[in-house]
Amino acid sequence: MKKTALLLLTATLLMSTAACHNASTADNTPLTDSVVSQSTANDVSSAADTSADSSAPHHTSTASVISDTSQQTSVTKNNVSAAEPQTESRAADTDISPSTTEHSVSSTEEASAPDTSSESADVSVDDEENNTASETSQTEPSAVPVSNADSQPEIPSDTDDTQNSFLNVWTKVYAIDLQWQPQDNVDGYVIQCSGDSDFPTDRTKTQQTTDCSMTFDDLAPNTTYFVRACTYRLNGSEKVYSDWYTTDRAVLKSIEVINGITYVDGLLIANKTYGLPESYGYGLTDETYQACNEMIYAAAADGISLWIESGFRSYETQSYTYQSFVWDRGTELADLCSARPGHSEHQSGMAIDFNTTSDAFAYTPEAAWIAAHCAEYGFIIRYPQGKEHITGYKYEPWHVRYVGREKAAAITASGLTVEEYYGITSFYQD
Ligand code: DAL
Ligand code: ZN
Repeated sequence: MKKTALLLLTATLLMSTAACHNASTADNTPLTDSVVSQSTANDVSSAADTSADSSAPHHTSTASVISDTSQQTSVTKNNVSAAEPQTESRAADTDISPSTTEHSVSSTEEASAPDTSSESADVSVDDEENNTASETSQTEPSAVPVSNADSQPEIPSDTDDTQNSFLNVWTKVYAIDLQWQPQDNVDGYVIQCSGDSDFPTDRTKTQQTTDCSMTFDDLAPNTTYFVRACTYRLNGSEKVYSDWYTTDRAVLKSIEVINGITYVDGLLIANKTYGLPESYGYGLTDETYQACNEMIYAAAADGISLWIESGFRSYETQSYTYQSFVWDRGTELADLCSARPGHSEHQSGMAIDFNTTSDAFAYTPEAAWIAAHCAEYGFIIRYPQGKEHITGYKYEPWHVRYVGREKAAAITASGLTVEEYYGITSFYQD
């Protein structure tokens, strides 16, 4: 149903632009709880003061809003040094760099699989042990490797330096994206992924690819996984495998629900999938308010006039706003332009609409300034152009979401939406 809805959503986007433009004015409803202040470069402080009044009180947002606990491991390395995971004492002997991999093929002339048994560590390329091991090795990597004490890979600790890892690990809430540098003289890669308590035994996922990237998805949330890779070469119809590369820790980004509010990686989420309790929210958060003021001042210094057109909106106000869209344009178009009550970021006190909620705003110097600078103050453009099928909303160059400077920098640099960055959805359940 959701795919169908998204298709319909996408199909109607072009038609809806003008409709949303007009209906967007309903977003400017005078019933808005938030600051509605035509502040200019000269009256920034009045805008700030207005938002501080009783109609839009500050509140201290939870600590979860600020910190970025990203578990991403950024790694690039062309040559992979040996690190045989099962037998630490033999790791130094197990060179799986491209040249050694090639050597392994030519010297054995037999298929050798990455072996999880302790004997696999004895596979060196130039001695008799190698020949012996080759004769008994598998031709496919074990999807569920041998489970015994000797076969357990060396699990990295939280403090392990993974900068020399082969894998570039990007974790989301339910998925792990992996990338790596292409290796010379290989025909493909085998990647394993398994949960912390059972690696590399039960429920190990194994994938093979000739590309240098892959994703493990549908993973259990709030779980630490471990990943490792090996290469293979084709020897006729057989695949000849290298040993496993170093095992990498992959901690999924957290998702938790506290008092009915969903936090991903400590960031409050309000979108079509994740709603807010009706009673939640009572003004811009202190952090949002302060960052907004700083941004308005900075814009003014650049000759750009920004004002808060809409800040905090209560559940009740959002109900009115959304219903206005429905009355004007029908439910389908309304859902592209306005959040249903309980699903608006404005209710979180961490979203702000600047200046004018008109499509024409996209072509103004003010919009360009916001896009170029808002991350410096901890904001992101929450509903970017071309991402309507992901965020669920049409492009809103005026709508920024406070996520803190660190997250804003990372998300903006990624070019991803919040949904893409964390691997979460945005669609209504009904
Ligand atoms: N216009 C945005 C999606 C809202 O209503 O929160
Ligand atoms: Zn908005």
